[in-house]
Amino acid sequence: MIARKCLFPAAGYGTRFLPATKAMPKEMLPIVNRPLIEFGVDEANAAGMSEICIVTGRGKRPLEDYFDVNFELEHQIAGSSKESSLTQIRELNDACTFTFTRQRSMRGLGDAVLTGRSLVGDEAFGLILADDLCFNLDGDPVMKQMQDVASAFDCSVIAVMDVPQDQVSNYGIVVGDEIEANVLRVSSMVEKPRVEEAPSNLAVIGRYILSPDIFDFIESTEPGAGGEIQLTDALNALAQTGKLLAYRFQGHRFDCGSIDGYVAATNFYYDNVVLKR
Ligand code: G1P
Repeated sequence: MIARKCLFPAAGYGTRFLPATKAMPKEMLPIVNRPLIEFGVDEANAAGMSEICIVTGRGKRPLEDYFDVNFELEHQIAGSSKESSLTQIRELNDACTFTFTRQRSMRGLGDAVLTGRSLVGDEAFGLILADDLCFNLDGDPVMKQMQDVASAFDCSVIAVMDVPQDQVSNYGIVVGDEIEANVLRVSSMVEKPRVEEAPSNLAVIGRYILSPDIFDFIESTEPGAGGEIQLTDALNALAQTGKLLAYRFQGHRFDCGSIDGYVAATNFYYDNVVLKR
């Protein structure tokens, strides 16, 4: 199983970053000088997924503009020392194609993924939650690691990490049997369990490679935690067929949906990438 497309749900309001997100998409918040979503797109492209599919909503036009040419600006700075600051994003935009669709009502992550079905079609796809920023400075980026697992086992795969017990209620939690180092066959999943009810402390983070049958599972998923259509519930149904793996990835992951995680990611990127250029 090889994914060529990568889906980005990007319709959410980003209320934890108000007022900054009142008039700009949270995906455009910068980590130093690069917007969050650019890191995700870069990671997808490095894993061979150059067809980028973005689920947007009202107020998300800056995402479309960012992944397009800005003739006026580029003409203005052509030949100046500033031109080189656009090299990286130009290369990414040339390497990838971008398609967009809108989620009309906020009914949860599962619904956002299902909205992307018209862009993805009937093929395996990557799924990145851009809020989760992943770095692996010493080796392959996380999505590339996952592409390798999905192709070796010909199976859907979700990225997992161990989290402290008191944080399990923030995540989809996974139970499974280890079939080789760092790879588990998932037997069940539960979205944001109470700490005392969590079956493990193995948490899903925002990196997935999925076969297209996940769309049918989402369609038959009833609203779950928080009254929303939960991707985790659909993944749990997929896991019951024995066709879902969990992969303990190599690298660092930051929850940029929270202020603390966002600041930590910014410091990490500044110290380990920007200062080392
Ligand atoms: C979503 C998923 C959850 C996952 C998390 C990873 O939750 O629903 O299963 O563990 O992303 O960041 P959210 O953080 O959007 O509430």
